[in-house]
Amino acid sequence: MAVALAAAGCGGGHAVSFRADVQPIFDRKCVACHPTAYPYLDLRPGRSYGDLLHVLAATRPAFERVLPRRPELSYLLLHPPDPSLAGLLSSRERAVIARWISEGAKDD
Ligand code: HEC
Repeated sequence: MAVALAAAGCGGGHAVSFRADVQPIFDRKCVACHPTAYPYLDLRPGRSYGDLLHVLAATRPAFERVLPRRPELSYLLLHPPDPSLAGLLSSRERAVIARWISEGAKDD
């Protein structure tokens, strides 16, 4: 994990920002299907945060979608949305999201 986080290139004590760093990943790669194809998860700006925090995964209710400080338990990162989409997130994008969760998953 430490290697992945270093690869994110967000070093120097600069915290990951939900709006500046995480939401743009959703805008690029996820909103075409969420909510259009899969309405239970809305990843559009202004909707995504409320749909990720304190919400159980619809397909695996044992998991929360995002559990602050526990990226390894957050379904957002555990779930390969669809086998054909396994490579959708680059390792850098995954690392940015993991770091945002590790830092407390704040709405900043
Ligand atoms: C091509 C369409 C498509 C794209 C693009 C897509 N998804 Fe999905 N996603 C789906 C479908 C379909 C499901 C439902 C799968 C199922 O029922 O098991 C799903 C389910 C999910 C779930 C599970 C939600 C839950 O509560 O069970 C998460 C989390 C998720 N996607 C995240 C993402 C993220 C993050 C991205 C962008 C990086 C993304 N998806 C991009 C189609 C897509």
